[in-house]
Amino acid sequence: GKDIYLMGIETSCDETSVAIVKNGREVLTNQIYSQIDIHKKFGGVVPEVASRNHLKKISYIIEEAVKESKVSFNELDGIAVTYGPGLVGALLVGLSTAKAMAFGLHKPLIGVHHIDGHISANYIEDSHLEPPFICLVASGGHSHLVYVRDYGKYEILGRTRDDAAGEAFDKIARALGLGYPGGPLIDQKAKEGNPYAIKFPRAYLEEGSYDFSFSGLKSSVLNYLNSCKMRGEKIVVEDVAASFQQSVVDVLAHKTIKAAIEKKVDRVYLAGGVASNSALREQVKKLAKKEAITAGYPSKILCTDNAAMIAAAGYYQYKKRNIADLTLNAVPNLKL
Ligand code: KG4
Ligand code: ZN
Repeated sequence: GKDIYLMGIETSCDETSVAIVKNGREVLTNQIYSQIDIHKKFGGVVPEVASRNHLKKISYIIEEAVKESKVSFNELDGIAVTYGPGLVGALLVGLSTAKAMAFGLHKPLIGVHHIDGHISANYIEDSHLEPPFICLVASGGHSHLVYVRDYGKYEILGRTRDDAAGEAFDKIARALGLGYPGGPLIDQKAKEGNPYAIKFPRAYLEEGSYDFSFSGLKSSVLNYLNSCKMRGEKIVVEDVAASFQQSVVDVLAHKTIKAAIEKKVDRVYLAGGVASNSALREQVKKLAKKEAITAGYPSKILCTDNAAMIAAAGYYQYKKRNIADLTLNAVPNLKL
C-alpha cells in the first residue's frame, strides 16, 4: 500500500517534541527540546513554566521537523498528539497546535495516550516486534506492568500503589544531594557502588500481585541516611545508590518475567524513562534468558518523552480509522 507519514506532537511534561514517522516504524525526524535545564533550579517540573516554554518553542520545532524530514505539510497523512495523561497546561499547547494544523491542512487528528506512546517506542526500536508481549512501563509519572494483547489493546496487570519508579529515583537522588533528574545520576553512582552493601526492603506485596510500591523503600533509605548522620557515620553515596537501585530493579524485573510466564508470552519489553536504567536492563535480560524469553528495550532517546513514539502509536489508530474530532480535549489523568 501507500506509505503513511504521520507527524507526532508531545508536550505532556517538560519535553517539547515533534517527529515525523513513516509507516509507524521509520523515524524521519524526532526533534526533542528538553526544558530540564530550566526546571533544574526548582528541583522538579514547574507546570506553568513548562506550558510557557512549550508555547515559545513549538512552532520552531515543527518547522525544524519539516525541514529535516523533507516531508512537506501537504504530504502528511495526519497529526498524532498526546492528549493525556500529563500537565493540563502543557498538554493543551501540543493539542491546540495539532488541532489548528489538522483543521488548517485538512488532515486527520489522532489523539494518543502518553503510555501508549511509551510502549510503542518498542515498535520503532525493533521493526519486527508484534504483539502480544509484556511491557514494563516505568517513568517519572507511571509504573505499569502491561499485557499488550494487540496494537493499542492493553491489559494492565499491575500499577504502582504510591510513587512511580522514576519518582523514587528522583527523591532518593535529592536526598543524596545528586541533583535532578535523579535517575541517570543514581545509575551513574551505582556503577561504583556495591548493590548488596546495605539491606533495603523489596516490596513484592501479596502473592500473585503485579502491583508496585516504592514508598516503604524510600522511607527505609531516608531513615538509613538520617541514622548515619545522627551517629556521625560516613555515607557512601555509591553504595546507597547501588543498594537502593538493586531493590527497585529486583522487584521490577521479577514481576515482569513472572507476568510473561503466566501470560505464556515469550517476549518482554521495557518503556519509559526508567527503561534507560542500566541495572534494570541487565537484570531483565538475565532473568529472561533463564526462561528462554526475549527481552528488549528502546534506545535511550526513545525511552524519554519524545514525539516519535506518539506518531508510532498514532499509526495503529490511523489504520483502524480511529480519528478524533476537533472537540478533543486534554485529559490530565487519562486512563489507559
Ligand atoms: O518517561 P520520562 O522521560 O518522563 C515521564 O513521562 O515521566 O521519565 C523520566 C523519569 C525520571 O524520573 C528520571 O529520573 C527517570 O525517568 N530516569 C531514570 C534513568 N533515566 C531517566 N531512572 C533510572 N535510571 C535511569 N538511567
Ligand atoms: Zn513519559
